[in-house]
Amino acid sequence: MSSELPGSNTGFPASPPPHSPADASGPTDAATPVVGAFYDRFPYPGDALQDGPPPGYNWRWCVDSAWAFAFGGLPPRDGSGQRAWRILDAGCGTGVSTDYLCHLNPGSRVLAVDISPGTLAVAEERTRRSGAAGRVRELRIACRSLLDLNDEGEFDYINSVGVLHHLDRPEDGLQSLARRLAPTGLLHLFLYADAGRWEIRRTQRALALLRAGTGAEGLRLGRQLLGSLPSENRLRRHHEERWALDTAADANFADMYLHPQETSYDLERLFAFIASGGLQFAGFSNPEVWDPARLLQGELLERAQALPLREQWALVENLDPAISHFEFFLTPAPQRQEPLAEASDEALLASGGERNRCIWGWPGTSMLGPDLQPLDLEDGDLELLKALEAAPADTALIALPLPMENAERARRARRLIRDRVLLRLATTCRAA
Ligand SMILES: C[S@@+](CC[C@H](N)C(=O)[O-])C[C@H]1O[C@@H](n2cnc3c(N)ncnc32)[C@H](O)[C@@H]1O
Repeated sequence: MSSELPGSNTGFPASPPPHSPADASGPTDAATPVVGAFYDRFPYPGDALQDGPPPGYNWRWCVDSAWAFAFGGLPPRDGSGQRAWRILDAGCGTGVSTDYLCHLNPGSRVLAVDISPGTLAVAEERTRRSGAAGRVRELRIACRSLLDLNDEGEFDYINSVGVLHHLDRPEDGLQSLARRLAPTGLLHLFLYADAGRWEIRRTQRALALLRAGTGAEGLRLGRQLLGSLPSENRLRRHHEERWALDTAADANFADMYLHPQETSYDLERLFAFIASGGLQFAGFSNPEVWDPARLLQGELLERAQALPLREQWALVENLDPAISHFEFFLTPAPQRQEPLAEASDEALLASGGERNRCIWGWPGTSMLGPDLQPLDLEDGDLELLKALEAAPADTALIALPLPMENAERARRARRLIRDRVLLRLATTCRAA
């Protein structure tokens, strides 16, 4: 895939920087030298460093939570009471995701790779200051391309957010990650979507025509352009309303408007891309965006809901041109989860569960859920969750010492699972 911007206007060095993975003998991508040098100039994301753990949570980076979402159930913990996930952060940037991956997955082994030494220096500093290494069994941060990890074995969870669309051949990147995924592994991707980037692409092209380059001068001219176009101009308005806050940091502005190599997708090309990696789609990680109920009602919604899922998503894509990215999970094999509504009360109560760590305000009846949405629990829900926490690991819901009839227990468990406050264990659990 070629760049949105003509190479002659990008101002990047003709040869790779020292110690870049492009020096290595392993497989590389034509864009690697250009992209690595760009991120050395503008380490992304430009989030401030801070001492101590990162704020709050993001359930997509809590593997228990992501796993339960995609597979409908969790594997048991190991002898030390933890789940030692093998985690890869592929294209970790300045380590924001790596930091969360460490803090949200205690006891795991984490490898974070990127091709930009300058960016990795920030990731090292961020994770050092946050105490990330102390939360996991192992944290390695390495200057390597995601195309060249054949000696690393398999991973249970791979996070690659905002990376593959910056490769000259994103399909090679996807296939490389697919080879690193364990048979029951989960891959989380974030890729640009055409529709919501219409104004961004025009701004990028305009800056390329103005020979702004991809360095400090591009930054200065880009900010000048978006600040001086007529106030009613669509590109300026879109920037001010949608992106001004996100691009306050220079690195973020450069990533959006000056990038020397990027591509984007529509739904059809996205699914062709997924197929090129031999992987299976296991759900959007922002499913609410793809729910037609967000946009339609009454008869129109009924018609929409009668469509196959892919057509429902195509409908949403057409109705909401502001969607600027796709974020989703992939697995090596198709997932066959039993829908919660179809699980019998007996099956539900025979399984164990764990409270999702990605909720805010525990323990209480007014909390924030995994998507930071307000959650109002009843006293009985809280009792059930507390009993679960006090019981030995893997205790079946039916065996919790609670003065609660089975029907009520199942009703409450079902709702807590639906709201992703309770994560089900996939295995058969202790009866008592
Ligand atoms: C937009 S940034 C995303 C950073 C991080 N994933 C995030 O979302 O916060 C893209 C990152 O991918 C890295 N990258 C690009 N190609 C890569 C490759 N082949 N292997 C590893 N990292 C790569 C870049 O150096 C850059 O740091």
